[in-house]
Amino acid sequence: MRILVTGGAGFIGSNFVRLILRNHPDDEVVNFDALTYAGNIENLADLKDNPRHTFVHGDIASTRDVARVFRGQGIDAVVNFAAESHVDRSLHMGPRVFIRTNILGTQILLDAARKHRVQRFLQVSTDEVYGSLGPTGAFTEATPLQPNNPYSATKAGADFMVRAAHHSHGLNAVITRCSNNFGPYQFPEKLIPLMIANALADKPLPVYGDGLHVRDWIYVEDHCSGIDVVLRKGVAGEVYNLGGNYDVPNIQIVKGILKLLGKPDSLITYVKDRPGHDRRYAMDNTRARTELGWQPAHPFDDALRETVNWYVAHQTWWQRIVSGEYRKAYDQMYGWRDKE
Ligand code: NAD
Ligand code: DAU
Repeated sequence: MRILVTGGAGFIGSNFVRLILRNHPDDEVVNFDALTYAGNIENLADLKDNPRHTFVHGDIASTRDVARVFRGQGIDAVVNFAAESHVDRSLHMGPRVFIRTNILGTQILLDAARKHRVQRFLQVSTDEVYGSLGPTGAFTEATPLQPNNPYSATKAGADFMVRAAHHSHGLNAVITRCSNNFGPYQFPEKLIPLMIANALADKPLPVYGDGLHVRDWIYVEDHCSGIDVVLRKGVAGEVYNLGGNYDVPNIQIVKGILKLLGKPDSLITYVKDRPGHDRRYAMDNTRARTELGWQPAHPFDDALRETVNWYVAHQTWWQRIVSGEYRKAYDQMYGWRDKE
């Protein structure tokens, strides 16, 4: 299978590309990414000479760029990771770029997938589209969509466009909705890598509100294996929830990181809450487990320890992000191609 992976220079996308190349020796990946602030070509450094991996620099919200990547590539399947993914940015910097990439970009990909008779389209979505839970229960695939922030509203919009492309035009499309990921290559603006980086620098760890907001956490490798299974075995038109069965308050995660690093709890600083902060997420992943035979394989404590060790061992990787140096890496690795 020749898979077009969009957003494959980001956190989850780069982990997914690696998983495909490792587990499916006959598959090829065309990796299409705009390299926004969140895209980092250094995440793909070890794949530079892999003949089954081709990187194409482009924007999913540009009809021209998308036409260029489909033309003559023989794409069998699309897995769409490309998105503006950070809730705080959607709140504080405005939703325009979220609407452009997450909704318009997804629609442009759907149109191209139909035109080129792609056999499978997988939309990588999020549990955030369901909104917030009360003190009990978990999201199922039948939970109504009630997104509460601009990011999740645009992801829900994209989900509806994918559903419409399947229902109206018969596109073979599936949607995965996953909970909070953590692991190697996560941009240090998200909770876990930010807390690790700050703790290592003995800087304050900013916990929003009372720190009792609950998220379900899943190791990125388990999310990627779930996407891989849904890509190959999911029923067209269906949604599959993926989650790690580990829903805990944020403060527990932050204290766990401090403990692993041998740093004091006094670094924790409670700060002003995120506007409209969703109180609790929890995922019911029964469908993916019983119908597709998928399940998360990494116990949380082991995966968090491995993740903390990864950030300790890869301080140059995230320090180049913090300093902005990483943005020069594309020119060094691939810039000559754009100039041809
Ligand atoms: P990320 O921000 O780390 O990566 C996003 C990638 O998309 C970057 O490489 C970026 O350059 C690229 N991109 C952005 N706009 C683009 C555009 N217009 N054209 C082409 N490429 C573009 O995000 P992530 O955390 O890896 O999330 C990937 C996907 O998974 C997103 O769709 C997100 O909504 C979804 N998701 C994330 C989580 C999570 O916990 N991180 C959980 C569930 C679902
Ligand atoms: O649930 C899936 C979603 O998880 C994905 O769709 C998003 O792309 C991804 O960014 C993530 O969204 P969250 O808003 O849940 O992730 P974030 O890491 O920003 O925050 C996790 C929790 O930690 C949330 O309750 C807010 C809190 N938080 C976050 C930051 C960055 C803090 O308390 N302090 C912080 O500095």
